[in-house]
Amino acid sequence: MNLKEMVGLKAASYVKDGMTVGLGTGSTAYYMIEELGRRVKEEGLDIVGVPTSFASKEQAEKLGIVIKDIDEVTHVDLTIDGADEISHDFHGIKGGGAALLFEKIVAINSKAVIWIVDESKMVEKLGKFPLPVEVVPYGQEQLFHLFQTKGYNPSFRMENEDTLKKTDSGHSIIDLQLDVIEDPIALALELDQMVGVVEHGLFNSMVNTVIVGYADGPKVIDVQR
Ligand code: A5P
Repeated sequence: MNLKEMVGLKAASYVKDGMTVGLGTGSTAYYMIEELGRRVKEEGLDIVGVPTSFASKEQAEKLGIVIKDIDEVTHVDLTIDGADEISHDFHGIKGGGAALLFEKIVAINSKAVIWIVDESKMVEKLGKFPLPVEVVPYGQEQLFHLFQTKGYNPSFRMENEDTLKKTDSGHSIIDLQLDVIEDPIALALELDQMVGVVEHGLFNSMVNTVIVGYADGPKVIDVQR
């Protein structure tokens, strides 16, 4: 079993009958959704899934998990999602799979959030992983130049050589190669205030539990705030 599968299975064991569960996106969340599908089929687990992307929705539907949109539920009990980097103080970068906007909306409406990662995602400071910024196409070149001026080393996320990657909401992604983010709170505030930025991949203080996959087994970290 690979590390992503290990943590995916472990996280799925936190899901109980009657829960409304936020279904994350990415190659690690994939295993968690597969396991929930198995439990629905084999154990009669009774849950509602709230997907964070079209891809996760399609996967969950195929597995027979009951799906609702975020606006069709009163609350989300637990969201389980992957992450691209997690710092020593448990801020995170997400959006490597371009699903950051829906992921953040589902996360902030959740009573609890679990992130599942392999050990390579645990870092001292965020920033080696390019920080995704979701932007409205109108005026995106202006934002790109602004990021250049600030020395944020921007690049447009591409679908292929000639086509920009589009998110599930039809926006573009500009990745910022920052190398080290000394103050993720300040950077999040700065990005939040930029017109044309829809959302960014800094998920500060948003996780309750991190499950990290190591070769000798999963480690569960309850985040104290
Ligand atoms: C999706 O946009 C992301 O936030 C993912 O949750 C994140 O990139 C982790 O993905 P992997 O589990 O595939 O590394």
